[in-house]
Amino acid sequence: MQPVTKVTADQPGAHLRLVSDRTDTGKPGIKLKGVSKTYRSRDGDVPSLQPLDFHINQGEFFVVVGPSGCGKSTLLKMISGLLPPSTGEILVEGEQVTKPHGNVGIVFQNALLLPWRSILSNVMLPIDMKRLPRAKYLARAQQLLKLVGLEGFEKKLPWQLSGGMQQRASICRALVHDPKIMLMDEPFGALDAMTRERMNVELSRIQRETGKTVLLITHSIPEAVFLADRVLVMTERPGAIAAIYDVPLPRPRSLDVMADPIFTELVQRIRKHFFTQGALD
Ligand SMILES: Nc1ncnc2c1ncn2[C@@H]1O[C@H](COP(=O)(O)OP(=O)(O)OP(=O)(O)O)[C@@H](O)[C@H]1O
Ligand SMILES: [Mg+2]
Repeated sequence: MQPVTKVTADQPGAHLRLVSDRTDTGKPGIKLKGVSKTYRSRDGDVPSLQPLDFHINQGEFFVVVGPSGCGKSTLLKMISGLLPPSTGEILVEGEQVTKPHGNVGIVFQNALLLPWRSILSNVMLPIDMKRLPRAKYLARAQQLLKLVGLEGFEKKLPWQLSGGMQQRASICRALVHDPKIMLMDEPFGALDAMTRERMNVELSRIQRETGKTVLLITHSIPEAVFLADRVLVMTERPGAIAAIYDVPLPRPRSLDVMADPIFTELVQRIRKHFFTQGALD
């Protein structure tokens, strides 16, 4: 049995295309068609992303790795509707993205909690901003805090929590309005290795329990393989798809999975993409 399936191939032209839709369930969470980005600036154009075509299924955990500056955050901002693409179209749950939309929860690299608000009221921020009924969502916010092990910390201020706890609160904030899709840009980049591993296990569990579609960006290849159903590997800027790998490891996954030969083989294969670029990890 071939444990790892590479589902992309070289094509003539500017970028590599996904040639197998083997894992397309026909229920696309996110779909990109020819999406590229060139930033216009006074000093000239900065091509940041070559045209990308790929899909993320509903309920899929999809992870993107790539060298610094290859356009990962740009990709995430375009999917969230914060930034318009230069070409192509993005569909979220079948609808074209033209502006910021309520269907997504975003987690940034730093927790970015408001220091004057309690943990609970930080989690409730999207509800207040969207003017949704507070009473209805309060119970949900408390339930989420319990899910991530922050029960009893609702009234604390952010500085009274550790970095990892703050990051867990920010994940609750991204989930509170029950978005169908979670976009996470290096959410654990600032955490120490042990907290980061614990957060990986927790995030994996939350995704399983809530069935959300997740797009997560990371610089860590082991983190990518641990979390993902599929891993998209990007090239140097302007970013293109180098490969998309299936991760055929069963769920739920504990940290023990990192000793699995499939895990180590996949990590090595992905790492090889960066040997010549030398920009990762
Ligand atoms: N507002 C902007 N104006 C002009 N160029 C930009 C702007 N934002 C990003 N870029 C350029 O686009 C490229 C991609 O940026 P982006 O932030 O998406 O990279 P990234 O892959 O997220 O990098 P990192 O891993 O370091 O976070 C960068 O090389 C940068 O030069
Ligand atoms: Mg970035």
